[in-house]
Amino acid sequence: MKKKLLLVSLFAAVAMVVTATASFAAPIVIKFSHVVAENTPKGQMANKFKQLVDERLAGKVVVEVFPNSQLFTDKKVLEAMLLGDVQIAAPSLSKFKKYTKSLQIFDLPFLFKNMDAVEKFQQGPYGQKLLRATEKKGLIGLGYLHNGLKQLSANSKLVVPADAARKKFRIMSSDVLAAQFEAVGALPIKKPFSEVFTLLQTKAIDGQENTWSNIYSKKFYEVQPYITESNHGVLDYLVVTSSEFWNGLPADIRTEVKKALDEAIAFGNKVAAEKAISDRQKIIDSGRCEVIELTDAQRQQWVDVMKPVWKKFEDQIGKEYIEAAVKAND
Ligand code: SIN
Repeated sequence: MKKKLLLVSLFAAVAMVVTATASFAAPIVIKFSHVVAENTPKGQMANKFKQLVDERLAGKVVVEVFPNSQLFTDKKVLEAMLLGDVQIAAPSLSKFKKYTKSLQIFDLPFLFKNMDAVEKFQQGPYGQKLLRATEKKGLIGLGYLHNGLKQLSANSKLVVPADAARKKFRIMSSDVLAAQFEAVGALPIKKPFSEVFTLLQTKAIDGQENTWSNIYSKKFYEVQPYITESNHGVLDYLVVTSSEFWNGLPADIRTEVKKALDEAIAFGNKVAAEKAISDRQKIIDSGRCEVIELTDAQRQQWVDVMKPVWKKFEDQIGKEYIEAAVKAND
């Protein structure tokens, strides 16, 4: 009897220790690293995600957001993710070349006529399949986030493709973007986002391509006297995590984190649509640079010169994906 009592007390003591340990367990930390300013679609999405997790998973999960390349550049962030040094990021879809060739589709010039077509393709079967394109390399795509259509900025007027010849343009680390600028006789230079302002300011490069919100929030318009409203390509993001981190989360926490992410992405997409209009207007109102609107005939010249790039990358991307993207414009 005495032995039995002793055993019961021992079990009770162990149970108490286990419970106490569990309730004092350190929260799961999610570091979210990105390269843009906080007043951008991605910056706002990341902050919204943090706010939702703080409200719903207090004490269990902590989100730390690092904007403006404070923690990692986009070149480093995916390597850091695989090492467990960061848990969520949302690099531009142009920056996954090392992990998959198929996401290059989003860099093809003049593929989508507007952001509705981009959304339709991303949410359709081919877009959803592409979310899994990096899984073999240990990265899971959790969703797409919009920024918007890209414009060309330069230190001289770009009206027809010949105006870009021999000019140096900063591009993201994408071979498709390199081919796009080579098609107009320009010199593409791959550089991190964090260096673009200085490169433009010091005239080490002549121009760059980006969305209205990035041009505004990083003040590129203050050092580029001309912006051509070309809408020639899309800059969107893959919200990404490592398989190791994601699959290691307790199932209930993973469900809640994904729910918060989905809501934050929907919020970020709304911000993106608003900023494409409001940041464009702020740039015009600043009087710091001229925004050039192309006639249909001028724009068609850019299309004619750049569109042959599609054929070059068709095998790497998959013809059926490109056809599905074209159909999303209907
Ligand atoms: C970003 O929007 O995350 C950066 C885009 C760029 O590198 O131009």
